[in-house]
Amino acid sequence: MTARKILATSALPYANGPIHLGHLVEYIQTDIWTRFQKQRGHECYYVCADDTHGTPIMLRADREGITPEQLIANVEQEHRADFAEFGVDFDHYHSTHSTENKELSALIYTRLRDRGHIDKRTITQAYDPVKEMFLPDRFIKGDCPKCGATDQYGDNCEVCGATYSPTELKNAVSAVSGEKPIEKDSEHYFFNLADFADLLKDWTTAEGHLQPEVRNKMSEWLENGLQQWDISRDAPYFGFEIPDAPGKYFYVWLDAPVGYMASFKNFCEQNNKDFDAFWNKHSQTELYHFIGKDIIYFHALFWPAMLSGADFRTPSAVFAHGFLTVNGEKMSKSRGTFIKARTYLEHLNPEYLRYYFAAKLSNGVEDIDLNFEDFSQRVNSDLVGKVVNIASRCSGFIKKRFDGTLAGECAEPALFQQFIDANEHIAQLYENREFGKAMREIMALADKANQYIDDKKPWLIAKEEGKDEELHAICSMGINLFRVLVAYLKPVIPALAENAEAFLNIPAQPWPSHAEPLLGHNINKFKPLMTRVEPDKIEAIIEASKENLTQESKPVEKKWDPIAETIEFDDFAKIDLRIAKIVKAEHVEGADKLLQLTVDIGDETRNIFAGIKSAYQPEDLEGKLTVVVANLKPRKMRFGLSEGMLLAAGPGGKDLWILNPEQGAQAGMRIK
Ligand code: 2FM
Ligand code: ZN
Repeated sequence: MTARKILATSALPYANGPIHLGHLVEYIQTDIWTRFQKQRGHECYYVCADDTHGTPIMLRADREGITPEQLIANVEQEHRADFAEFGVDFDHYHSTHSTENKELSALIYTRLRDRGHIDKRTITQAYDPVKEMFLPDRFIKGDCPKCGATDQYGDNCEVCGATYSPTELKNAVSAVSGEKPIEKDSEHYFFNLADFADLLKDWTTAEGHLQPEVRNKMSEWLENGLQQWDISRDAPYFGFEIPDAPGKYFYVWLDAPVGYMASFKNFCEQNNKDFDAFWNKHSQTELYHFIGKDIIYFHALFWPAMLSGADFRTPSAVFAHGFLTVNGEKMSKSRGTFIKARTYLEHLNPEYLRYYFAAKLSNGVEDIDLNFEDFSQRVNSDLVGKVVNIASRCSGFIKKRFDGTLAGECAEPALFQQFIDANEHIAQLYENREFGKAMREIMALADKANQYIDDKKPWLIAKEEGKDEELHAICSMGINLFRVLVAYLKPVIPALAENAEAFLNIPAQPWPSHAEPLLGHNINKFKPLMTRVEPDKIEAIIEASKENLTQESKPVEKKWDPIAETIEFDDFAKIDLRIAKIVKAEHVEGADKLLQLTVDIGDETRNIFAGIKSAYQPEDLEGKLTVVVANLKPRKMRFGLSEGMLLAAGPGGKDLWILNPEQGAQAGMRIK
């Protein structure tokens, strides 16, 4: 096998916030993959950096009364510590606010400019007259032009989901100063992405560059035509000034991916490696970017175009992953499921999460769910119950009865060989980022090892006279199988693997394609390698994550009632909703809110009292189709029996609206 030369990256985290479990999906995924490559003997580097530029970082530093440089230095410390404790083993971690990045960004820009790929044009933008700065959409707030919801961002409404431009926002104010923004002209620099349409068409469709679902999305974007990309921002801005353009700065997304190169460049300088060999136009090395599905546009269009326009190599592939949900829902600060890396680390073993994510990851872009019940169950049953258990079942006998020395012969060479022969398939799964499948293969082997021990019953043999040799053979076999399993799991749970190597008294294990059983070998005393997940620790994490909210940031006030708790489909199915025709509607004597309705629900007619008198005249209702709950227990009211419930929306008074089905629906039809 010839060693491959591989450079892998994860997306650079912004230097204005902590690492949370959502981020960790990607860092753990990349870390597993790069550890695997290294274990296989390849020359593989994993680099990353903090993404330090842009308006949010500038403004946060401002609010905290520190310089952006101080802010990014503090955050970098925290990020590094979080990654280290999660075992994310970068070969190099750098910053986009570095000399290498400044030089490389300028180099790429000037090459693009000199080849005619940069245009200048004056645009009109929202401007904060007090703070004297142009406002990114996110920093303008106002009322949604569609639904009127207050306190919405300049680009989209979180209440009704509408997207719009900030000029459409009603009662717009700057989120920085509270002042009404004015419109102001400014000259901007644009990258002519369309110059690279052919290149991008080839690059995005070539086999292996993108996952099939991503490739399809790209072809939609390419067909819709490529717009110029605005790469400049006006001062004040925390970033790099554009060469020959005083007062103009590179937009953060221009220098962010260049940060991959910059980090590697700094690494090469410190370690005497050949930067050019990895980045030159004809490079034969491999370059992979692991990213979230939300930033595909930057990595699969802008980035290859920038690189090729500036005479650098393009990526070998971009690997996108989905988002993390927790207990089936978007991470939420109020539910305590927006969990910071640090909060997790204060309570649970990081390798639980590494294993759990591995078990859930595939090479697709589907979201992955962290379900805490499933999490405990998998960790306890797979890692503790299956893998570690093998060693704990066998090691005691070896230590006590055989002085810590394994048998001189392998009891079951065929079984051992079976474990080794699985290596190619498992390697292929790791290579293809099918970690979930790899974990299942490994656990199937663990089941085999446990089955072997269950069949041989060393605990019984140990009590019989003259069976020492057999006992020795069985327990040594168990230990040898355990060792191979640990080698396979090493990219995922490196700390456990290292402790296991210490216990086995062996050097760091390479990929076990040629492993031989340990014979007549001395092992060390067994110490528990992993304990079961303690449920109260999970509770504690969720509680602590809720607290974070009250201390730091208040939830955005919502216009509407919060969405009710999630229910099972079966719960919903219990409610029998029917199309009903209002055949008669009349006032009820003595009732100031109610109307009495006679509704036809297909096979029967019902009497219903509905509190909609403030909004409807009886004659407006007669003949209309609407929706009723047909299986609600009848309710005795002062005016008679109500045999169902009419559905309506609105705050009340005049503002109440009953539902009308589309034409074609008929009384009696069930709504499901
Ligand atoms: O989306 C983000 O969090 C960005 N900071 C990712 C940048 S990735 C790369 F291009 F730098
Ligand atoms: Zn809205």
